[in-house]
Amino acid sequence: MNASEIRQKFLEFQQSKGHKAIAPAPLVLENDPTTLFTGSGMQPLLRYLLGEKHPDGTRLTDSQPCLRLQDIEDVGDPRHTTVFEMLGNWSLGDYFKKEQIENYFEFLTKVIGLDPEKIYVTCFIGSEKYSIPKDTEAAKIWQSVFEKAGVKAEIVEIDTAENGDKRGIKDGERIFFYNDKENWWSRGGGIETTPIGDPCGPDSEVFYDFGEDKQDVEKYGKSHPASDGARFMEIGNQVFMQYRRNEDGSFSELEHKNVDFGGGLERLAAASMGSFDVFKISLMQPIIKKLEELSGKTYDNNTDEMRIICDHLRGAYLLAAQGLTPSNKAQGYALRRLVRRAILKALDLGIAQNFLRDTISTIEAEYASLPDSILTNRDNALEILEKEEKAFRQTLNKGLKELQKMVLHSNGTLTGFDLFKLQDTYGFPFEISVEEVYRQNISLSKNYKEEFESALKEQRERSKTASKGMFKGGLEDHGEMTTKYHTATHLCLAALQKHVDKNICQKGSNITADRIRFDFNLDHKMTPEEIVKVEEQVNEWIKADLPVVFDEYDKEYAKNTLKAHGQFWDKYPEKLKVYTIGDFDNPVSREVCGGPHVERTGVLGHFKIKKEESSSAGVRRIKAVLE
Ligand code: ALA
Repeated sequence: MNASEIRQKFLEFQQSKGHKAIAPAPLVLENDPTTLFTGSGMQPLLRYLLGEKHPDGTRLTDSQPCLRLQDIEDVGDPRHTTVFEMLGNWSLGDYFKKEQIENYFEFLTKVIGLDPEKIYVTCFIGSEKYSIPKDTEAAKIWQSVFEKAGVKAEIVEIDTAENGDKRGIKDGERIFFYNDKENWWSRGGGIETTPIGDPCGPDSEVFYDFGEDKQDVEKYGKSHPASDGARFMEIGNQVFMQYRRNEDGSFSELEHKNVDFGGGLERLAAASMGSFDVFKISLMQPIIKKLEELSGKTYDNNTDEMRIICDHLRGAYLLAAQGLTPSNKAQGYALRRLVRRAILKALDLGIAQNFLRDTISTIEAEYASLPDSILTNRDNALEILEKEEKAFRQTLNKGLKELQKMVLHSNGTLTGFDLFKLQDTYGFPFEISVEEVYRQNISLSKNYKEEFESALKEQRERSKTASKGMFKGGLEDHGEMTTKYHTATHLCLAALQKHVDKNICQKGSNITADRIRFDFNLDHKMTPEEIVKVEEQVNEWIKADLPVVFDEYDKEYAKNTLKAHGQFWDKYPEKLKVYTIGDFDNPVSREVCGGPHVERTGVLGHFKIKKEESSSAGVRRIKAVLE
């Protein structure tokens, strides 16, 4: 069965069990402050899992395209992808563990025809700290399901994945208890990191066994379901969503107990063809074949590169087909990153010409069944991506030209300092420089890596020391605490612009070692929700420990190209300092400012708004502290 057939069979099967098939949500989220993209099937259903009535009843099913950029560095192994489709079914206070487990087992073994002997499962071991019991109920249900299918199924406690790596599993063992790192589900991961207010619960994961020979024991330890190795692959997660996290960190039972099931379509398709490599399935193979054709190289010898390109191009297609365009802002930047990474990897394979249109068009048909309501822009997707490809190749070509010039002006050997300049000034990535240098047989200094690192470090240090003696930015003193408040003020403004009104500007500020007072334009009193959102956003950025950097720029460049925030453009000198917080290409804040600031946001502590009041007509005043 190929992936499209499995998607269809799943939806039909769930409908035969009384579920209503609902349309998936868009991948690109517009107004969710917590995340940029839909990352699981439950995300669009959050409010219904918390008790609101769903218009389509208490049994729902869908196939939800998802994007998890946090997995980007793992792509390249046989099963990680940033983009995937999640088959889902939900019980909103309707059926619970027994019906879910029995139905999913029936789907796997009867509908897709998986061998029950190859199915292994995990359950939650319980948490003493939070008084959440061991999920013996789920384990027992599994045991009887396996018994009915004539499969031996002993129950074993493994607890941590590390224990499993050492212990492995024995013949006859099939149902395994693990701790919350493996078998607790919330949008924040384990039990400790469950977000306040979110629905959550113990889960029971289902794995397919590809055989012991697939396990690289040296690298991953002995095989067991929660191992990182390739023997077992997760093909479904049943979350028994029966708790909600309280403000004080404890958990209380939800009035309605829900089931939230999610299974990766790509992985199910791989299991159904007995392939431990998800890139062998029908949604991926056309791309891989095209890459082989264009590069004249084989997948078997260039597996990692081809997997990465394939994954990223699928993601890029789905995003562009939903109307997203590459840019330097949040979601658009993610799309840009996917496209650029794919192009760079293709260069590794020797594909130096434009290739996105030809490659991506091979999978368009696979997505024909996704509704127009989410793929609103499918007709223009290829054009958008091709445009981005051309622009990026221009950047690369310019970098190459500069590299040639450097060779001409050098004494025959390029140094790491030269490569730093290429990256810093022309955006030409270090790794590509190095490859180009090798490809062209240009000689490179022996310590080029150290030289590059030291240039990078020196640049960072310069940004520290250079602030001494410069324009003081209205600060009364440069004590440590005021410096922190100064950075917090930038984050606060950025959060206000993001969550309250994008036209908010600073109208005044006064910083002491004890607090910030910050005035800004807004035509209404901030609602309690807005205050909470701003606080949460600032604290999220603090937690992310973002870098704070500055440099001097021409006024015109700072204003129009860097789009720095500033209030007094006509009063500023021709050269000015701009502070950037976060990723340079996609910063959370960028302001004209004299400084000084902390080097990383992580040192700020906890941000709290103490007061919000009127300052004058159309101007609000916030008093906030770092605790
Ligand atoms: N929400 C669950 C998951 O993402 C099903 O794994």
